[in-house]
Amino acid sequence: MDFNGKVVVVTGAGSGIGAACVREFTSRNAAVAMVDRKARADGEASRDSRATGAVVEYFQADLSLRPEVERLIPEIVHRFGGIDVLVNNAGIQRYGSVTTIDEEQWDEVMDANLKSAFLMSKFAIPEMIKRGGGAIVITGSVQSVTAQRNSAHYVVSKHGLLGLARSIALDFGSQNIRANCVMPGAIDTPMLRWAASLDSDPDRVLAACDRLHIRGKMGEPEEVARVIAFLASDLASFITGAAIPVDGGLLTPTGGMLSQETGTGGANP
Ligand SMILES: NC(=O)c1ccc[n+]([C@@H]2O[C@H](COP(=O)([O-])OP(=O)(O)OC[C@H]3O[C@@H](n4cnc5c(N)ncnc54)[C@H](O)[C@@H]3O)[C@@H](O)[C@H]2O)c1
Repeated sequence: MDFNGKVVVVTGAGSGIGAACVREFTSRNAAVAMVDRKARADGEASRDSRATGAVVEYFQADLSLRPEVERLIPEIVHRFGGIDVLVNNAGIQRYGSVTTIDEEQWDEVMDANLKSAFLMSKFAIPEMIKRGGGAIVITGSVQSVTAQRNSAHYVVSKHGLLGLARSIALDFGSQNIRANCVMPGAIDTPMLRWAASLDSDPDRVLAACDRLHIRGKMGEPEEVARVIAFLASDLASFITGAAIPVDGGLLTPTGGMLSQETGTGGANP
């Protein structure tokens, strides 16, 4: 998995899974455009990458806004000469049901999670075609194919991202563009820690997150970033339109892992 000569754009690069992607791709010789709406360019990922002499630049943009994406893509192309890989990873987590959230809250999540990936793909794909093709990896979620309670807008946005990956795979396959969706389980990032902090007992939530997975422990951002890098690489040349769980087996057990604790047949073999 050598990305020497390749330009990789990572969105949501200032934190969590995106920051891990920056470390992964730069360690594999890619030139990386970090994109995040956060203002600061001195995030941990860019510091790490600069220390290794990697080519990495930080671009600030709110990707839910078309004018910002329309400005961003030419800036990246001007700086790096083109785009080969796009990691559509930026996203936010919010909670509510269709009766408790209002239209603004619905739009906020759709715009940050789904519209941003649409806009980035819309303006990056023509640049990829100019380079003879490329790869797009979208960070969906296990909630791209399942639902969590009280998360209607988030669940719908994540289902939509899987549809986006499949649509791009079909529409641009003949132009040598692959598109895939990774579906992480619970990953230990600032987003997950924030979600846990909403509870009166965050440690209880984090322990429950661990127990959702077959291995009894949630994922680390690097464990997702490695799969994203693989899917973006030529080693994955025959994988497109795929939904790839990176979930420690969360989607495997009937009724979920917690149901195995009390299910028929005993808790352990
Ligand atoms: N952490 C998990 O358990 C988990 C599980 C499944 C899927 N995911 C998905 O993984 C992705 C990354 O999540 P994370 O856990 O690393 O979260 P995170 O909050 O640590 O990082 C997300 C980054 O996206 C950026 N961002 C959000 N909206 C943006 C916008 N409109 N424009 C530009 N940047 C924007 C944020 O500023 C932040 O730096 C998200 O799409 C999330 O839904 C996370």
